[in-house]
Amino acid sequence: MAYKPRDYYAKRAKEEKYPARSVYKLKEADQKYRLLKPGQAVLDLGAAPGSWSKYALERVGKKGLVVGIDINPVKISHPRFLFLPGDIFELEPEEIRQKTGVEFFDAVLSDMAPKTTGDRSGDHFRSVALAERALFFARKLLKPGGIFLVKVFEGEAFPRFVEEVKKDIGPVKRFRPKSTRASSREIFVLARRKAQKE
Ligand SMILES: C[S@@+](CC[C@H](N)C(=O)[O-])C[C@H]1O[C@@H](n2cnc3c(N)ncnc32)[C@H](O)[C@@H]1O
Repeated sequence: MAYKPRDYYAKRAKEEKYPARSVYKLKEADQKYRLLKPGQAVLDLGAAPGSWSKYALERVGKKGLVVGIDINPVKISHPRFLFLPGDIFELEPEEIRQKTGVEFFDAVLSDMAPKTTGDRSGDHFRSVALAERALFFARKLLKPGGIFLVKVFEGEAFPRFVEEVKKDIGPVKRFRPKSTRASSREIFVLARRKAQKE
């Protein structure tokens, strides 16, 4: 299906001053599963153009912190927002600790997506590679009890990825937001970190 800039969610995002319609995916997950709370530290992987970070900033409030990472720029100027430009495959969790002063995050979110090529299988495997990298960051940086929310394009490697999340983080919920386009194969994997993990 062709991108329709004037669809309901795109229009609503514009009216509500979010840079992208994707904000409604996080908002729906947050309202359904009560993910974000005042005072939390949130790591937002694939943050550009910035709608998830903007929403997270509203939810974590004056005592919270949102750290965004992306190869593309995020134009948010906010005292509780830190942007680290870069490719997630070239950044390391320890570097993020050093640059942010945050040892463990309450939430690791990833809306990262590869540039889609039309090759469904290739797009799927590139998406899983990004999701695996997000899982690696969650393993290192997520607090016990913390939330891991990650986008994946479904395909043959999806069940194995879900098993990894279950093993490394905790029981998994699969979530497909209402605002996801009907033609999209994206799905979100959500897990809360078990208390005994690193
Ligand atoms: C769907 S957009 C994210 C939208 C964002 N959640 C928002 O609400 O504004 C996906 C993002 O993943 C980023 N991305 C893809 N590969 C990446 C990588 N290797 N390292 C960092 N970011 C990456 C893209 O640059 C893009 O901005």
